[in-house]
Amino acid sequence: MSFPERRLRRLRRTEALRRIVAETTITPADLIAPLFIREGIDEPQPIHSLPGVMQHTLDSALTEMDELRQLGVTAVIFFGVPLEKDPEGSGAWDPNGIVQVALRRARERFGDSMVLIADLCVDEYTSHGHCGVLDGKGSVDNDATLEIYQRIAVAQAEAGADIVAPSGMMDGQVAAIRAALDGAGFGDIPILAYAAKYASSFYGPFRDAVDVTIADGGDRRGYQQDPRNGREAMEEIQADLAEGADLIMVKPAIPYLDIILRARLETNVPIAAYHVSGEYAMLKAAEANGWIDGPAAALESLISIKRAGADLILTYLARAIAESLHGVRPALPAPPKAIDPPTPELEP
Ligand code: PBG
Repeated sequence: MSFPERRLRRLRRTEALRRIVAETTITPADLIAPLFIREGIDEPQPIHSLPGVMQHTLDSALTEMDELRQLGVTAVIFFGVPLEKDPEGSGAWDPNGIVQVALRRARERFGDSMVLIADLCVDEYTSHGHCGVLDGKGSVDNDATLEIYQRIAVAQAEAGADIVAPSGMMDGQVAAIRAALDGAGFGDIPILAYAAKYASSFYGPFRDAVDVTIADGGDRRGYQQDPRNGREAMEEIQADLAEGADLIMVKPAIPYLDIILRARLETNVPIAAYHVSGEYAMLKAAEANGWIDGPAAALESLISIKRAGADLILTYLARAIAESLHGVRPALPAPPKAIDPPTPELEP
């Protein structure tokens, strides 16, 4: 049989050949580890629906960060689990709120050697579980919430955040936060905007992790994006950039790879993608059942997110992937006779 001699298999013959033509790589520097810090506990608590992920004490969070740093994962994002909640979510901007305390301690311990990102929202702190304050009719009041986000941004910056990351999907939140930071002398603090954040079913385990239940069986479809819309995500991203976002995020990641690609084609800013709790939990559940090769599927998942165009990935897999890159655990589908094992890019 004859066909044009375009034999693509020639470059797939050995692992060494495949390696030199690989288009996508993951290094620990691409990863941002989410950390849950719970107020008022003495021991880290496992999270049932997120196997391997903990609610940390202040001390165990610092230990985890130290280990991540040694593995080359030098960026973390903090989520707080407060003891008390109220209708406004005041723990989110209280200087003694759990995230502010954690930021100060982490800054003291690690100086500038780690990037401390603070998730900026009130849902972990509000008694009703919404991402903003409610109006008289029980729906989230966009503009009243912006004032609260401004207070949180300044409190987080004062406590030592390197980047604030608003995740509440209020209109105008980036401009409001930019103005508040600039007005308080924090003009050099960047904003990572959760720009295209969908009202997703894949956040379930996260809400266990932060003990959030939305009141009256409510949901977030009034402010987060409709999964049916792609063009609208580009509107959200352009709006956030016009308001002064320094980095943008797409969330969740794998169900929205098309959005990551479109964002990559239409913008030149750094793009982060959040491989969310439900995406992680599905991998873990299938692995626990022996249905998939968990570590290989995890790596493939993150590769697909980078291939689509993300520069950074927020992921509960950060530590495991970094360990596998360093050979601490055999997670890479290793070639039988690799002469030259992959050398991870190490951070100081
Ligand atoms: C809101 C927030 C959520 C997540 C990150 N920030 C939950 C939500 O919007 O319901 C989800 C992250 C995940 O599922 O891993 N502050």
